[in-house]
Amino acid sequence: MDEVVVAQKAPYATDVTAGEKYYWCTCGRSSKQPLCDGAHKETSFTPLAWEADETKTVYFCGCKKTGNSPLCDGTHKEL
Ligand code: FES
Repeated sequence: MDEVVVAQKAPYATDVTAGEKYYWCTCGRSSKQPLCDGAHKETSFTPLAWEADETKTVYFCGCKKTGNSPLCDGTHKEL
């Protein structure tokens, strides 16, 4: 079983565009955090597709342990 890597113990503030799809890195190995760069290919993880419903700034989880994927829910404060 592959272990998730904590990319950082804080969210990534990211500007998103309404109607665009984003592929959130679930394995923590991407060098393009918080989004997928294909680094999961050696693991059992796959990225999570998420579509923005409006143009705004969102906070993608950086610790990869959120209960509200792909967005930060504050879990990183307990790490
Ligand atoms: S960065 Fe993961 S819950 Fe906040």
